[in-house]
Amino acid sequence: MEVAASAGGGGAKTPDEVIAKHCNACHGTGLLGAPKIGDAAAWGERSKKEGGVDGLLAKAISGINSMPPKGTCADCADEELKGAIQKMSGLK
Ligand code: HEC
Repeated sequence: MEVAASAGGGGAKTPDEVIAKHCNACHGTGLLGAPKIGDAAAWGERSKKEGGVDGLLAKAISGINSMPPKGTCADCADEELKGAIQKMSGLK
């Protein structure tokens, strides 16, 4: 899965980097009710509700309940967040 950087040359963060630095703190353990990394059922439910990965991305950008906007990765491009979501959820 190739992730295009929308934030201009170089420095595109890989999904693994974004997850390790920003998402894993909550999504690694399910802290505050976060869907766990690799829990395909939990992510699948949410994806169905939000209308797919792009719907999940929109919520990740705006934040939802205890989930902070952009999952604390303020300088993440949308595509970088999307890559992290796809990696955590296994969704395409
Ligand atoms: C401070 C803890 C925390 C961090 C850090 C965090 N999340 Fe979350 N995330 C949550 C919680 C809690 C939920 C569940 C929110 C709810 O439905 O009440 C959630 C839900 C989500 C959802 C599902 C949204 C939906 O519509 O159901 C996505 C997508 C998501 N997070 C992406 C990310 C990404 C990507 C990162 C890293 C860049 C990240 N999160 C970092 C706590 C966190």
